[in-house]
Amino acid sequence: MKPLLFSGVKPTSTPHLGNYIGALAQWTKLQHDYPCLFSIVDLHAITVPQDPVELREHTLAIAATYLAIGIDPARATLFVQSEVPEHAELSWLLGTITKLGELERMTQFKDKSQKEGAERAGLGLFAYPVLMAADILLYRSTVVPVGDDQMQHLELTRLIARRFNERFGDLFPIPQALVQKVGARVMSLQHPDRKMSKSDATDGGTIWLTDSADVIRKKIMRAVTDTEGGITYDAERKPAVANLMEMYHHMTGMHLDAIEREFSGKGYGDFKKALAEAVVAHLAPISQKLAVYQNDRGELQRILDAGRDHARALAADTISRVRSLMGIGRA
Ligand code: TYM
Repeated sequence: MKPLLFSGVKPTSTPHLGNYIGALAQWTKLQHDYPCLFSIVDLHAITVPQDPVELREHTLAIAATYLAIGIDPARATLFVQSEVPEHAELSWLLGTITKLGELERMTQFKDKSQKEGAERAGLGLFAYPVLMAADILLYRSTVVPVGDDQMQHLELTRLIARRFNERFGDLFPIPQALVQKVGARVMSLQHPDRKMSKSDATDGGTIWLTDSADVIRKKIMRAVTDTEGGITYDAERKPAVANLMEMYHHMTGMHLDAIEREFSGKGYGDFKKALAEAVVAHLAPISQKLAVYQNDRGELQRILDAGRDHARALAADTISRVRSLMGIGRA
């Protein structure tokens, strides 16, 4: 089976530093190793309520971000999930071989439905992992770079692929998740026990790729730290500083032990100042390019049109095989 890489981001907001460190930053390197498809997964976004006008804005903002971080549209296919209707079709077909119990076990569903209770949660939220399996399997992808929070969904994708192959015939390769060792779960600056996310954004716990230098500095200087001082890496005992050190590693490329040496004998204040400058310096060229791409709507549309056409051609081939193996429609 030819290697192929697939990944995606939901256009629920502009991306944050967690998305960037956990997933996006890897993509720019991986595009040199694999043929890649990077999607803006709007059908996933609507599993929780979205403002329709903002959703379209965010869809283009995510596309612009892909380009701004260095994804090369000549190498990788960039497209909007809903513009390839085969995603929804394959999701339905795979849903018929997925068990309720398997979906009920998904921690993301449990977390997201907690507030209102599972009874009131939408069917889309429940079926979210099946659509994700469809995204991946539609291209018979083999490599899926994601943050740690998506590992359970990847396991389910693998199970669905195996079940399909056993029941209908060998079609899908079993995809591998690609999760990095450091930074797979970037935590909130205010709540180091929770992951950095859109929903934790109100109190400065989340850094957006679009934040100004001043805002980034303020958020980092106000980040909570651990009671035990010193810049040493111990994720169990000092989760707050461990999180900041992982960020520093990703912003500068410096290894954790080198960071410890660099800041030995120094306090949190010095380290935070250095981290703030590192984040500002790392994100400045990205946010500049982001503004350029966001203002060049024509170029963005052209890239997404080409991406959609390429993705559709690949998707049509898989779907016709799935239909035939499952006996759907006429011969
Ligand atoms: P989304 O948009 O919620 O997240 C996009 C990517 O960012 C990672 N991520 C994080 N990584 C580290 N620390 C964090 N705090 C953090 N927050 C988010 C996510 O793990 C993800 O890799 N369901 C996917 C979107 C998707 C997808 C797919 C991914 C839909 N279909 C098929 C891969 C393959 C998601 O969580 O998006």
